[in-house]
Amino acid sequence: MLKPITLHDLTIPVPVFLAPMAGFTDKPFRTLCKSFGAGVVYTEFVSSEGIVRENEKTIRYMRFDEAERPVGVQIFGDDPETLARSAQFIEEKLKPDIIDLNFGCPVPKVVKKGAGSAILRDLDHMEKIAASLVRATSLPVTVKMRSGWDNGHIVAVEAARRLEAAGIRMITLHPRTTKQRYEGLSDWRLIAEVKKAVRIPVIGNGDILTPQDAERMIGETGCDGIMIGRGAMGKPWLFRDVIRFLTAGELLPPPSKEMIAESFFRHLTLQQEHYSLMYAGNLFKPHASAYIRGMDGAAHMRFEINRAKDIEQIRELADDFFSSHDLNAT
Ligand SMILES: Cc1cc2nc3c(=O)[nH]c(=O)nc-3n(C[C@H](O)[C@H](O)[C@H](O)COP(=O)(O)O)c2cc1C
Repeated sequence: MLKPITLHDLTIPVPVFLAPMAGFTDKPFRTLCKSFGAGVVYTEFVSSEGIVRENEKTIRYMRFDEAERPVGVQIFGDDPETLARSAQFIEEKLKPDIIDLNFGCPVPKVVKKGAGSAILRDLDHMEKIAASLVRATSLPVTVKMRSGWDNGHIVAVEAARRLEAAGIRMITLHPRTTKQRYEGLSDWRLIAEVKKAVRIPVIGNGDILTPQDAERMIGETGCDGIMIGRGAMGKPWLFRDVIRFLTAGELLPPPSKEMIAESFFRHLTLQQEHYSLMYAGNLFKPHASAYIRGMDGAAHMRFEINRAKDIEQIRELADDFFSSHDLNAT
């Protein structure tokens, strides 16, 4: 049902994307999603200003393993010149497959500076940013955006047309407004409208939680690929399930107790390998809570996890939890 996508000389055989999610899509989680078939992964978004200042933490966020390819690095900012310089730095030092511009972040800290989804309030400026980046790098530049600032200013179709004209190679639409944040449902009709308006690939994003959701989005919108965010939190196997359903029409059974536990501990081990003891535990806590969501005793377990002093203690808690639970119920 999904065909490979080509962006200039990059081919994406399986256009099922893991959404960039700050605080979540770090290397351990990306690696796990990739092992379940995710077709493209993105690093966590970083500020173009941090990049040009060569801020060490910013640069660390963008690092990825060769095995993660095709991989996108996502950046935000509002100054065309700074964004262009950051793209040159990325191309030279990191060489990802895609540079993605964030025109979707609704977080006040970002939009107050005129970046993220605030860019959609001034489409002339948006065009300048896009053109400046396209000129600055030979890598495919893509955009991930929301539908507009608020219900009175839905600009996705006009923005998409202008972005295509500026040389942007692919657009991902999360059809909620900035004001909406994550409330209500995303309006998939806008994905269909954007798809009709441009010739570059359009990736649909928003509220895909099951393989059937993925199929429905493709059927209703005609999008060229899909992107999954929250649905994969604590459920990295969703990529395998979605791809199997889209390619073979087969609905896989819910994960067994063993599979959830195995995925949890694999993730935990990747976490330990990637982070120092000081950070590994705290950064794993949101993931750990996501794996156990909906299970018997999850609330108490979450409380215990949040109190854990380090990742070793989380491992011990999880050993007890998983060995004493019937997880097939999830
Ligand atoms: C915790 C969290 C962090 C996010 N961080 C980013 C980000 O850094 N860049 C971005 O473009 N979108 C970000 N998003 C938005 C997601 O990429 C995605 O567009 C949104 O969650 C809708 O897709 P979903 O319904 O599949 O989750 C974030 C979402 C969440 C929940």
